Amino acid sequence: MVETAPNLISPPLPAVWPRFDQPLGLGVMASGNGSNLKAIAQSIHQGDLHAQIRVVIYNNPGAQVAARAARLGLPAVLLNHREYASRVALDQAIVATLNAHGVDWVVMAGWMRCVTAGLIDAFPGQVLNIHPSLLPSFPGLKAVDQALAAGVTVAGCTVHHVELAVDSGPVVMQAVVPVVATDTPASLQARIQRQEHRIYPAAIALAAESRNCT
Ligand code: GRF
Repeated sequence: MVETAPNLISPPLPAVWPRFDQPLGLGVMASGNGSNLKAIAQSIHQGDLHAQIRVVIYNNPGAQVAARAARLGLPAVLLNHREYASRVALDQAIVATLNAHGVDWVVMAGWMRCVTAGLIDAFPGQVLNIHPSLLPSFPGLKAVDQALAAGVTVAGCTVHHVELAVDSGPVVMQAVVPVVATDTPASLQARIQRQEHRIYPAAIALAAESRNCT
């Protein structure tokens, strides 16, 4: 695809990325492709985001993210939701896995399951998600389709703290992209994803830095 639309508002990346006493221990939760996992790993590798990805948790056998984790040399654990009696039971297994790997910050990157208080309360204020819309507009599934159907002229993505209600919680960072007349859900999603990959590492750093300062 030829990209003709410029980024409208793309927040600048940090001029100086924060360093922490210890690298942030990240647990990435993903259900599908894992392009955000790759972007976060690249940011760490470049020496920007001061963090380590300690474990990748995925719920769909054969998901692309498992192969990506393997290529990146990251431990990946399959927790197939179909094998758990309830969301609570799945989240108990997730929390146990995150704790066993020394995770401090939980980074949901395309995790297509609702989470329970058990997960959120185990990592208070340290569970982040990325969503392909300018929240609070268009929460839930098919956010890009929702935005196109609504006829918006700008769209974007949001990194936010996770609360119980789906795609709610305080916003950490957003990026805005234009919608052009010829956009399809796929072309707009691709434009949004380029911004997701820029802002997610920066938002993790910002969220952790804010927490250190309080
Ligand atoms: C992203 O668009 C994110 O906003 C949404 O799920 C998608 C995950 O993409 N929550 P990827 O698996 O990281 O490529």
